[in-house]
Amino acid sequence: MGRIPQNFIDELIARADIVEIIGARVPLKKAGREYKACCPFHDEKTPSFSVSPDKQFYHCFGCGKHGTVLGFLMDYDHMAFPEAVEELATRLGLEIPREITAGSGAARRSDEPLYELMARVAACYAQCLAREARARDYLAERGLAAETIERFAIGYAPNSWNEVLRRFGASDADRQRLADAGLIVERERGPTQGSERHYDRFRDRIMFPIRDARGRVLGFGGRIIDAGEPKYLNSPETVLFHKGRELYGIYETRRSRPSLTRVVVVEGYMDVVRLHQAGVDYALATLGTATTPEHFRRIFRLVPAVVFAFDGDRAGRAAAWRALQQALPEAREGREIRFLFLPEGHDPDTLVGAEGREAFEQRLQGALPLSEYLVRELSEQSELAHADGRARFAESARPLFAKVPEGVYRELLLERLAEVVGLAPARLDELWASGRGPTPAGQAAPAARTAAARAASHSATGAGRGSLVRQAIVRLLRYPAIAGEVSPEERAGLEASEEAGMGLLRELLDNLREQPAQIPAQVIERWTGREGAEWLQKLLEREEVITDAAVAAGELRGALVKLADQAAGRRLEALEAKSRTGSLAPQELEEFHRLIMRLRHRDARGG
Ligand code: GTP
Ligand code: MN
Repeated sequence: MGRIPQNFIDELIARADIVEIIGARVPLKKAGREYKACCPFHDEKTPSFSVSPDKQFYHCFGCGKHGTVLGFLMDYDHMAFPEAVEELATRLGLEIPREITAGSGAARRSDEPLYELMARVAACYAQCLAREARARDYLAERGLAAETIERFAIGYAPNSWNEVLRRFGASDADRQRLADAGLIVERERGPTQGSERHYDRFRDRIMFPIRDARGRVLGFGGRIIDAGEPKYLNSPETVLFHKGRELYGIYETRRSRPSLTRVVVVEGYMDVVRLHQAGVDYALATLGTATTPEHFRRIFRLVPAVVFAFDGDRAGRAAAWRALQQALPEAREGREIRFLFLPEGHDPDTLVGAEGREAFEQRLQGALPLSEYLVRELSEQSELAHADGRARFAESARPLFAKVPEGVYRELLLERLAEVVGLAPARLDELWASGRGPTPAGQAAPAARTAAARAASHSATGAGRGSLVRQAIVRLLRYPAIAGEVSPEERAGLEASEEAGMGLLRELLDNLREQPAQIPAQVIERWTGREGAEWLQKLLEREEVITDAAVAAGELRGALVKLADQAAGRRLEALEAKSRTGSLAPQELEEFHRLIMRLRHRDARGG
């Protein structure tokens, strides 16, 4: 087989989510911008293993193991490099391209990918629906048009213990894949071999295929026809399906409109389907779980605004409050998170059926912003007319406010909360931060700081730590794309430098200028096994305040120019010394002049 091209490996690293991949194997806990766990590679009681979504790599401070998502799969799942690539590619639905080399045969796949099996089973359920009048009648009764059924690829699992097994499970290997896909279940007692060992998971149910954004079937939700328990049966967690991550309707939503500005998140499969049918074709549902950070990541990758719609009953209000708590860490400027409460006795399905699209969209327009919902809920629990009521409000708001990440949104929320409490924002912030005042002491004070305090501390942490070479490398690592902004002259100026680490800096610059990379993990992966890999890894692990790519680019170029100036200065000194003891060769003389010009130029720049 041919070599796997570098740009494909780059793409894998960029598209894979290291938190998702490691999180599926090791229970991760969020801690600030990173995730922590007890290290899976050595024995420990307190977590020193951390995973950084920003940098897309992991590191254990205990045993020192570290690497990218590919390295993790190799170490943890004991995979060879090509296997780890294969695993990631399959997850992401990418074909592995091969560079054609002499003698490379066509890539042979012994296994049909699980996705294809899922698609074939979904098609089979759809055919079964066409044949089962009882199921079709039920859907018609629920108001679903044939077109909607087709759009969502809704099907029916026949009332049989072995329909899927019979059709798709001829060999032991086939049955193993059906089991891996969660479509058949192993009998607890009975035969240990052959097709008798398993039975179909889904029987006599309306089948909702759960598809990813690209339309691949990952799992199913199966609803019982009419009444019965359980009402819904979902696919178990499989290699393809993780219910805390998927959003039902994401494929249909993405397909419905070329440009989306918002989505509405509802609770049920039927809600999604009916909303789409009514023209609210930007509705998604979580699969009977609370909204997870992964859900938010997926939503905000798609649109800047989300409205959560909840039933007006008690369960709906409880679910909304839970969603608010999940949403707080995700709130920031540029994002809009709102909450819609439906009239008692309605869910989105029945409501849009009763009043139609326009009225429903009117309600969406009027949905409560997160901040207002927070204020409303908390004020209902406290009597704001009295000082102690307002103090209570402040007390209950504090832990919630602490979840909001720093930024403009946080400042605005602070203002709003301060207004309700009746204090100046800075004062409330101070009281919260000190743990005195409206809040009882003893609770951990949240890291609440004002924008001004942040700005001050920020300007104090400029560049300036470590050598220039180190500064340059750190910036290149953090934002590899800025290598493209370095001019040929700036690059050429480094040739004469003999600074420690300069070899690596030059190599890194050349590599990234020739083959651009976007994220740190790509660089780390490229450097695996090369000289300097350990140093790069260490530099990346050190937290450094680099606000954004543009700033980093400016700082990088500044460092390069300074390095070139230093080298020029040194060379000039050497030539000067030589010219005092003897004469310079014509070439040296020319260089002497060039260097003098350069340094003059620098003085004119004020460097
Ligand atoms: P209909 O009753 O057909 O209108 O379904 P719905 O989609 O409106 O469901 P409902 O509002 O009752 O529940 C919301 C969601 O919670 C469902 O879509 C499922 O994802 C999940 N859910 C509800 N009941 C069950 C259950 O019995 N088991 C599981 N695993 N999930 C359920
Ligand atoms: Mn319903």
